Amino acid sequence: MSADERAWWDDAVVYEVYPRSFADSNGDGVGDIAGVRSRLPYLSWLGVDAIWLTPFYPSPLADGGYDVSDYCDVDPLLGTLADFDALVAEARAHGIRVIIDLVPNHSSVNHPLFRAALAAGPGSRERARFIFRDAPGGEPPNNWPSQFGGPAWTRVPDGQWYLHLYDSSQPDWNWLDPDVPAFFEKVIRFWLDRDVAGLRVDVAHGLFKDPDLPDNPPAVPGLGPSAYRHRPELHALYRSWRSILDSYPPGVFPGRRTAIGEVWYDEPDTLRPYLEPGGLPQVFNFQLISAPWDTAALRAAIDATRSLAGGSRAPWVLGNHDVTRPVTRYARGEADDPERGERRARAAVLLLLALPGSAYIYQGEELGLPEVLALPPGARADPRFRRSGGERIGRDGCRVPLPWSAGGASFGFSGTSAGDPQASPWLPQPGDWGRRSVEAQRAEPGSFLSLYRAALRLRRGHPALGAGAMRWLDGVGSGSELLCFAREPGFIFAANLGRAPAALPPYREVLLASGEFGGGVLPPDTAAWLAG
Ligand code: GLC
Repeated sequence: MSADERAWWDDAVVYEVYPRSFADSNGDGVGDIAGVRSRLPYLSWLGVDAIWLTPFYPSPLADGGYDVSDYCDVDPLLGTLADFDALVAEARAHGIRVIIDLVPNHSSVNHPLFRAALAAGPGSRERARFIFRDAPGGEPPNNWPSQFGGPAWTRVPDGQWYLHLYDSSQPDWNWLDPDVPAFFEKVIRFWLDRDVAGLRVDVAHGLFKDPDLPDNPPAVPGLGPSAYRHRPELHALYRSWRSILDSYPPGVFPGRRTAIGEVWYDEPDTLRPYLEPGGLPQVFNFQLISAPWDTAALRAAIDATRSLAGGSRAPWVLGNHDVTRPVTRYARGEADDPERGERRARAAVLLLLALPGSAYIYQGEELGLPEVLALPPGARADPRFRRSGGERIGRDGCRVPLPWSAGGASFGFSGTSAGDPQASPWLPQPGDWGRRSVEAQRAEPGSFLSLYRAALRLRRGHPALGAGAMRWLDGVGSGSELLCFAREPGFIFAANLGRAPAALPPYREVLLASGEFGGGVLPPDTAAWLAG
């Protein structure tokens, strides 16, 4: 493929910002848009191509902002539309594109159109925009579960039920009603007009439901096709969105706008229809999140999505605001050596950034932050914790506000002038987070942050780490657990996933390594980038 045909997103590294936990500019304990602006120099120093902002829209915050009451504004806690415009413009000056989160599966119960639906009553035009049903006998219309626990239906005072695949505060839109696609087309244009580079499409597998609303079979379905997942109607909708994206002039950056779908699946093959030409430019591939730390399993997981589409259309990701942080995930079942999680997370980012295609990094991954497991129950905000009666711990542990400074209140998360009163961060930070802060790691050559930055710089400069072809190197370090591939020209990736040292293939030079090694032998849980 020629350089001209490549899109900017083909090998972009995108940094996910969870705004409420990134940086707080006004000392109220909640991160905001001005806080993101203030940290753009950091993101540019780190070397990312774009940021993805999770929802910053007006919201009652029943699900961290994924319960949207106005799709075309900024929540007053986080700032104003003028702040947003300034963020896009300043990010541009740093060479960073801005991708925003589109939440089309559900709104908030506070959205004016849902309020109108409640007021208008059964059978009305207003109710047709959501999924209301009568049900005889006082039982919900079917047995669908909410993803956060409990039933997916809530009854309103006039006796009808509405569907919510997530929290009861998040009613599902009825995508079979023509008002809904028309409404979202306006929302998409509103933000493209404000020069966003793309959209991350929330719950992209779930918008359409089987209109008969059949019961689930007795075995609870996983993440595969069902009456409310991966419906065929999705693809005409995404083709229509693609034409909108492609119809836009370049804006402040050259190239077209993108959209990336959040599509969870059991079998990678489920992604196939989403990757047909003319649909969404990209969908996430969650293979590196789901694969165990095992050479054969990881290689099979990588091949399963590479055979469908390269990583350009299905970007790689190690974590996000919904899953346990890598450092903690990789330590599971490894109580004999608690440092193993950190070593593996360091090796994993070298894998992430060496694979062909685009990659997403979630804020704090570059600091090696662990999942915060010891949050007090009263501080937890995730509806998954509440709706499961505390049985499921929820996702707050990966959303704790970032430590920027080695000391001080909130480790620099709240950045007001000294002496101004400051509220505590909305989720409490562990007392030892100073040593994991940006300040503490920046000057430390062996830190997580230094490793991420060095990898991002090398990746930008190395000809193989753009469009370079990839091929597995078999038979190296024979008998060992070496995951090893080449990218052309002249790049070798190797990671030792086993328990014993492994011999590397011949190489000229070590470009970067996740841990110390010598003599051509890689210790366990270590990865290296080599010049071949
Ligand atoms: C997506 C979001 C998640 C949210 C859910 C419902 O999975 O990433 O945070 O809770 O959708 O909107």
